[in-house]
Amino acid sequence: MPTQSQSPHLPFGENKQADWYGKDILSVKQFSREDLEYVFGVAHEMRGMVERVGTFDLLKGKILANLFYEPSTRTSSSFTAAMERLGGSVIPINEVKYSSVSKGESLADTVRTLECYADVIVLRHPETGAAAIAAKAAKKPVLNAGDGVGEHPTQALLDAFTIFEELGVGQIDGMTVTMLGDLKYGRTVHSLARLLSLYKVKLNYVSPEILRMPKEVMEEVAAKGIPQAEYTALEKVLPETDVLYVTRVQKERFENLEDYEKVRGAYVIDPEIMKAAKQEMIVMHPLPRVGEISPDFDDDPRAAYFRQMEYGLYVRMALLAMVLGKA
Ligand code: NCD
Repeated sequence: MPTQSQSPHLPFGENKQADWYGKDILSVKQFSREDLEYVFGVAHEMRGMVERVGTFDLLKGKILANLFYEPSTRTSSSFTAAMERLGGSVIPINEVKYSSVSKGESLADTVRTLECYADVIVLRHPETGAAAIAAKAAKKPVLNAGDGVGEHPTQALLDAFTIFEELGVGQIDGMTVTMLGDLKYGRTVHSLARLLSLYKVKLNYVSPEILRMPKEVMEEVAAKGIPQAEYTALEKVLPETDVLYVTRVQKERFENLEDYEKVRGAYVIDPEIMKAAKQEMIVMHPLPRVGEISPDFDDDPRAAYFRQMEYGLYVRMALLAMVLGKA
């Protein structure tokens, strides 16, 4: 067990510090409602610090290994930015083909190697459960940055923080959240549906028949007493929606490209369609988008997807500080 240094801590939630110090973040199932409030509080504080001073030394001397076996723009660069804004540094492994992975090294050995040099490991991998395997091999904290079609917990945390910041404190309860697009292969919605089930929300799932939300996720959400309904058309639920969460059809996960061709472009959000939605609501997307939201909608104040990326920086700063014992 590493020992804690005497560096100053951010001035909140002292008693919660031990809860996350040294822990892995593998699934949203690890989080209670109280934990979320704590993460949001730290993230909010991080936002204030970045606005005031830009970069500060909370994680000075700490090193993050950023290990990505799948493409990434936002997750990878926001973890890098988060670590550097906290005064730490990063070992980037975005091109595993240039690492010993291409020589056949196992995930467990790769992770054991990286933890010799780093204090925390962020991992994105194409296989469900890979983050848990890595965490078992490593003594240092592993943060799951997406494991195949499994989970993407840090994205769900930043999504929930976005709702919290955009629609007001305490406003998640009572909200109708509509998830649209590829609910079968989209790991972000698997994590987000589970996480939002901690609140009194209503969840609508709108997807083509072949891309419905997995039963397993729906059963977990139902067990929390959350109402859920499935649709193939958006029109019916758009007017009642407070958060419209749009997703990309995950081409790379299809076994057969003909099926992909049948469902690509099934839904396109544009200013015309959005006339039927409330004025006080937000449209989110984990991005990248490949046609599901028309750029013509980007200037609408309800388009929250670019702001959502920025919230991701603050949430990832909060998570790094927490697992490294500095928040
Ligand atoms: C998502 C992912 O990788 O699951 N992207 C992200 O992390 N922001 C969504 C996607 O790729 O469609």
